[in-house]
Amino acid sequence: MLSKFLAFFLAVLEAFPVVEVSTENSLDLSLSEGQKFRLDPFWLRERCLSHSSVDSITLQPLLNPHELPSDMTFQNASLVGNNTVQVGFTDGHTSLFQIEDLLKELMDFRHSPIQPAAYERPKPISWSGDYKLNNYDYEEVLNQEETRLKLTKDLLIYGAALVQGVPKEHGIVIEFGKNLSTLRQTEWGPFFNVRTKPDGEQSGGATKRDLAYTPRAIGFHTDNPYRDPTPDFQLLHALEHCSCQTAPCESCSVLNYLVDGFYIAEQLKNESSESYDLLSNISVRFENNGGDGSSALVHFSPHLELDTSEDAEGIRPLKAVRFSAKSGQYAPPMDLQTTTKFYKARRRFSALAHEPKNAVVMQFKPGEILVFDNRRILHARSQILPTDGERWVQGAYIDRDGLWLAFERLRRRQAQPLE
Ligand SMILES: *[C@@H]1O[C@H](CO)[C@@H](O)[C@H](O)[C@H]1NC(C)=O
Ligand SMILES: *[C@@H]1O[C@H](CO)[C@@H](O)[C@H](O)[C@H]1NC(C)=O
Ligand SMILES: *[C@@H]1O[C@H](CO)[C@@H](O)[C@H](O)[C@H]1NC(C)=O
Ligand SMILES: *[C@@H]1O[C@H](CO)[C@@H](O)[C@H](O)[C@H]1NC(C)=O
Ligand SMILES: *[C@@H]1O[C@H](CO)[C@@H](O)[C@H](O)[C@H]1NC(C)=O
Ligand SMILES: [Fe+2]
Repeated sequence: MLSKFLAFFLAVLEAFPVVEVSTENSLDLSLSEGQKFRLDPFWLRERCLSHSSVDSITLQPLLNPHELPSDMTFQNASLVGNNTVQVGFTDGHTSLFQIEDLLKELMDFRHSPIQPAAYERPKPISWSGDYKLNNYDYEEVLNQEETRLKLTKDLLIYGAALVQGVPKEHGIVIEFGKNLSTLRQTEWGPFFNVRTKPDGEQSGGATKRDLAYTPRAIGFHTDNPYRDPTPDFQLLHALEHCSCQTAPCESCSVLNYLVDGFYIAEQLKNESSESYDLLSNISVRFENNGGDGSSALVHFSPHLELDTSEDAEGIRPLKAVRFSAKSGQYAPPMDLQTTTKFYKARRRFSALAHEPKNAVVMQFKPGEILVFDNRRILHARSQILPTDGERWVQGAYIDRDGLWLAFERLRRRQAQPLE
């Protein structure tokens, strides 16, 4: 995508752009290919980087929106060379703008920030059941920046990875979470325990109740859609867990499954864009009472949360998937026709998510940390048999922006461009 724009800029700079102030108070920027952009005076002024407009170090704008005259418009404009436009505003201010910078924003608003000098955000690549989760060695992730960069990039692109060789010690998951990002605490504290006895009896006097803490099979879901904000990435650390050479085996039948919710959503959209629209427009009510009545968590959100800004193709990208039967996801009262269509759409999403060919199957082993994007990847577990033994898993949540920042810092340090 970057090269497409680069080629475009070169073409622009070779040719001679034309700028003129129109009678409708816009600045018209015409390119030789016949493309024309009409710019608003406030839109352009917002991008002014002169000393009276921004702090020269941070590039942070100095004025509040109401501090510019409400009738401000363009006085005049002229080209300085082929790539700079000088603009006079009616409040007496004159600014210089690089045409290249303006075009970047006009063509790809989402990826052309002004204050951060360089910014790359890996684009998600969706996957189906034949995807092989990348494995990482715990010590390598901690000690080698290059490996840590690979892991963070994997998590942003594919949404899941497995870290092996982790000490089977209480609390490690918190330290590791902090190493990758900022920790997202909940009212459960910085981490949570999932202890499951095959007979369903809770060990350690646990008071929190959840279907996940019973031997029952749990269908595909994302965690905590009832929280606002919903936790971004989830880390699960197996402390005690059965394991087989080749899973499943007689002493260990339980299997873990991951499905890429972005892939499922794309499949649904391909089948029926109306179904996709219904799941992205209608907010359902997710609920949780803490298992012991101590929580009162209620959050409204559509199953498919779209970004509020459009990408270069004019599409609002899918930002998050929230789906969890055990969290209620109660649909609002709607007219009967919409209600029927909504349940049909959700049934199809659920069926696609549960199709074996879409799922990665694994058996979570002691000493492993599974990291996954909880706003994208759905996880599931088969039932736990009496012969499976006891399980103890510690989990923690981390923030997406912290993970992305870790990636961005490591990328800059390693001077490794994305493409
Ligand atoms: C705008 O007009 C003023 C006064 O005529 C002139 O000094 C200035 O150079 C012009 N600026 C531009 C950008 O054309
Ligand atoms: C601007 O573009 C024109 C047309 O291609 C070219 O003749 C001229 O040399 C360029 N000027 C500058 C300052 O680059
Ligand atoms: C992560 O761990 C490594 C090795 O212990 C350490 O050098 C690094 O500073 C840690 N990073 C963060 C962000 O905590
Ligand atoms: C959806 O359709 C597009 C265009 O035909 C195709 O490239 C893509 O692979 C499909 N996605 C899924 C998940 O089936
Ligand atoms: C859902 O929203 C999209 C745009 O976000 C709109 O185009 C579509 O008509 C809406 N569909 C329904 C069923 O409301
Ligand atoms: Fe879960």
